Amino acid sequence: MLWSLILIYLIGPNIARVGKVTQSSTAYNGPASRAIDGNRASKYSESSCTHTQNQIKPWWRLDLLKTYKVETVTITNRNYCCHERINGAEIRIGNSLNDNGNTNPKCAVISSMSAGASTTFQCRGMEGRYVNIVIPGRREFLTLCEVEVTGVNVLVSCNASNVTELNGTTSQSSNYTDDGGVVYSSERAIEDGNNCSHTSEQRNPWWRIDLLGVYRIYWISIFNTGHHNGDITDAKIYIGNSREKNGTTNRIRTNITNFTRNGWNDFCFDTNVSGRYITVFLPKTSFLILCRMKIFGTKKESPFKLIRENKTWVEALEHCRDQDMHLASIVDKETQTWAELEARNSSTLFVWLGLRYTCVLEFWFWVEDLPVKFSRWAPDKKIDDCNMSGAMRRKGKHLWFSKSDVKKYNFICAE
Ligand SMILES: *[C@@H]1O[C@H](CO)[C@@H](O)[C@H](O)[C@H]1NC(C)=O
Ligand SMILES: *[C@@H]1O[C@H](CO)[C@@H](O)[C@H](O)[C@H]1NC(C)=O
Ligand SMILES: *[C@@H]1O[C@H](CO)[C@@H](O)[C@H](O)[C@H]1NC(C)=O
Ligand SMILES: *[C@@H]1O[C@H](CO)[C@@H](O)[C@H](O)[C@H]1NC(C)=O
Ligand SMILES: *[C@@H]1O[C@H](CO)[C@@H](O)[C@H](O)[C@H]1NC(C)=O
Ligand SMILES: *[C@@H]1O[C@H](CO)[C@@H](O)[C@H](O)[C@H]1NC(C)=O
Ligand SMILES: *[C@@H]1O[C@H](CO)[C@@H](O)[C@H](O)[C@H]1NC(C)=O
Ligand SMILES: *[C@@H]1O[C@H](CO)[C@@H](O)[C@H](O)[C@H]1NC(C)=O
Ligand SMILES: *[C@@H]1O[C@H](CO)[C@@H](O)[C@H](O)[C@H]1NC(C)=O
Ligand SMILES: *[C@@H]1O[C@H](CO)[C@@H](O)[C@H](O)[C@H]1NC(C)=O
Ligand SMILES: *[C@@H]1O[C@H](CO)[C@@H](O)[C@H](O)[C@H]1NC(C)=O
Ligand SMILES: *[C@@H]1O[C@H](CO)[C@@H](O)[C@H](O)[C@H]1NC(C)=O
Repeated sequence: MLWSLILIYLIGPNIARVGKVTQSSTAYNGPASRAIDGNRASKYSESSCTHTQNQIKPWWRLDLLKTYKVETVTITNRNYCCHERINGAEIRIGNSLNDNGNTNPKCAVISSMSAGASTTFQCRGMEGRYVNIVIPGRREFLTLCEVEVTGVNVLVSCNASNVTELNGTTSQSSNYTDDGGVVYSSERAIEDGNNCSHTSEQRNPWWRIDLLGVYRIYWISIFNTGHHNGDITDAKIYIGNSREKNGTTNRIRTNITNFTRNGWNDFCFDTNVSGRYITVFLPKTSFLILCRMKIFGTKKESPFKLIRENKTWVEALEHCRDQDMHLASIVDKETQTWAELEARNSSTLFVWLGLRYTCVLEFWFWVEDLPVKFSRWAPDKKIDDCNMSGAMRRKGKHLWFSKSDVKKYNFICAE
């Protein structure tokens, strides 16, 4: 298979607040950070606007830390005094720090803005890590009451080819409900938009997706807003085929150590990471919030096929053979999972597997001649007796039961 590096662009809300800011000089106690304090208050005395000295070509710069395709820049202008000082300011976006970034390509020139107004400038995907606002050509003060930026993070994906975004059935340990009665349910994490999933505050909260198939997982990307509970540092991502203990018996594939809010967090996986369930588990007493989670992978084709006909075990065996298949053998968690996915849709309470007891030699064997090492027998349901065969339960944990082989059940054939 050919592996290729692909670029994918993902959109998020205001990305300015995660950045680092600086400006040409500071006066009147107006540090650069006030432009990204999340507050559009525009009266200077409200302590939410920046202020440089009166100087030639004053500037303010936002470092987004990563390269973005910037869609919009929204600027809130000062109110009650001096709103015309912004006239002629330029918005510049790029990756260069030449002349402090003031020579990067120009997104817009602000000819004028009303007092206290918030105006959005379209930058149409201009690429860059730095967003500058500079007043060229004259001696001036530069004051900004808020700068908001939207854009798409230029992600270098994990090593993967032909991956698709995966979907499935989600669940979580508890549902947070706000004062307005809105339930922050688990599926909000994989829906487009800015709604978040949110558990209650509890011990060991978790979120899980059932992909309803076995998938190779190459890449998971998580975006959380700046909400203080949105930091999921210390969470663990489990991927595998078991739902036992809420998925925590699967292997830990990521220990999240450096989570960034207001930005995409990418987790790449080895090509051999696969499973039906992905669990995000936070081992402490907390809320667990996930605003946008994207999962990329490819399906591992199942070798199994449910035959929805009612047959005795021997008839089932022959039916599969007639189709150049054989009755299913289950040798590991992955094959158990594929069988579980088929069994769910059977019309009988059990489905036959290729599992048989020989009362001559007194042991269980798979008809494909594979050793019975892996097992999922229901407690006390392994009955070593003549004319007994193994069947999987349609529901619950899909455990195995010994059944008299003249019973008629649906069955699973394997390629
Ligand atoms: C992709 O895989 C190749 C070889 O397997 C490796 O050299 C390269 O560093 C990987 N790139 C990324 C982004 O993981
Ligand atoms: C990508 O995957 C889809 C569906 O899994 C398949 O139909 C398509 O042929 C694949 N394309 C390539 C280039 O492998
Ligand atoms: C996932 O599947 C559900 C139900 O099938 C669908 O409503 C939803 O739009 C899908 N989400 C994505 C991201 O494809
Ligand atoms: C959370 O809410 C959804 C529906 O909104 C429900 O299906 C689910 O059972 C709830 N989960 C818990 C843990 O209460
Ligand atoms: C976000 O949640 C609100 C309130 O539950 C709902 O009205 C809105 O449709 C949701 N938006 C999306 C994109 O799911
Ligand atoms: C699974 O999660 C639920 C909800 O948080 C919890 O009550 C239960 O104890 C967990 N089960 C295990 C085995 O940890
Ligand atoms: C995650 O941390 C656990 C210990 O808490 C460790 O056993 C495991 O190997 C780590 N996994 C990864 C993928 O880093
Ligand atoms: C954490 O993330 C920041 C910003 O992306 C990065 O500069 C830093 O190196 C990361 N630290 C670790 C330990 O990965
Ligand atoms: C998965 O692949 C990595 C290297 O790509 C290897 O180190 C690791 O042992 C493999 N794990 C399994 C379970 O095969
Ligand atoms: C279950 O079987 C019915 C009847 O053959 C079929 O219409 C349906 O698509 C199947 N559902 C699944 C999930 O395979
Ligand atoms: C097979 O048996 C089940 C349960 O007894 C019954 O509901 C179903 O209709 C039967 N199917 C056929 C094809 O006879
Ligand atoms: C097993 O089946 C054979 C024929 O199918 C029958 O003769 C025999 O009595 C059965 N043995 C038991 C213990 O049911």
